[in-house]
Amino acid sequence: MDNRSKLMVGNWKMNGGLTANAALLAEILQGLPDVACRAAVCVPSVYLPQVGELLSGSALAWGAQDVSAHESGAYTGEVSVSMLRDMGVRYCIVGHSERRLYHAESDVVVATKAQRALAAGITPIVCVGESLAEREAGQTEAVVKRQLAAVIQANGHCISEIVLAYEPVWAIGTGLTATPEQAQLVHAVLRAQLQAASEHAERVPLLYGGSMNAANAAQLLAQPDVDGGLIGGASLKAADFLSMLKTASR
Ligand code: 13P
Repeated sequence: MDNRSKLMVGNWKMNGGLTANAALLAEILQGLPDVACRAAVCVPSVYLPQVGELLSGSALAWGAQDVSAHESGAYTGEVSVSMLRDMGVRYCIVGHSERRLYHAESDVVVATKAQRALAAGITPIVCVGESLAEREAGQTEAVVKRQLAAVIQANGHCISEIVLAYEPVWAIGTGLTATPEQAQLVHAVLRAQLQAASEHAERVPLLYGGSMNAANAAQLLAQPDVDGGLIGGASLKAADFLSMLKTASR
């Protein structure tokens, strides 16, 4: 995974506000000259115009946290890929476990969302990951492979254009992090599955997400198949996020 520069993505989740966003981004932008990895923030969709304006021309890309599986029409409250494209987003998270859990998103819905994003020229950051019960039942591999298989099936050879994030559900927002070895084990499984589907699988960045922070990032990022991070809580503090971006730049 030699020449892939690391990709670090902040997922703000349902946090922020006009004033707080401006302050956070101003501080991150100040530190960006010291950063050599690829970086992005995925923000609540209502703030995409603000964030796009603040980050335009900078090395920090911006993205959305979800997208509709439908193209347009009577889907109250939803945001389409063409709307995201209007906002200049480079990335869109799909299939985050919080969407799968609280909004009953199935593997097929997640795969369709990834397909819509790819067709619109937006890079989907596809999330997969097992719950604690699934891990304890020894089903980790089976679960992540099932989740990824649906995305591969719907997207065929375009699969090499996605970003894939392994986010063990039990590690999200809990302060529990997968050990670097646990993360690497699953990443290797996902890499092999991608390789079986596409000759360009090597170029797919595999991100780890789940309580990644300034203290544990270096060890996780040192794993051969960990190409970056998807960071929740720690991306809301400029100093922490910058510290992780610098770690990923080494
Ligand atoms: P935390 O970093 O807050 O655990 O969240 C991880 C996550 O869900 C990123 O998408």
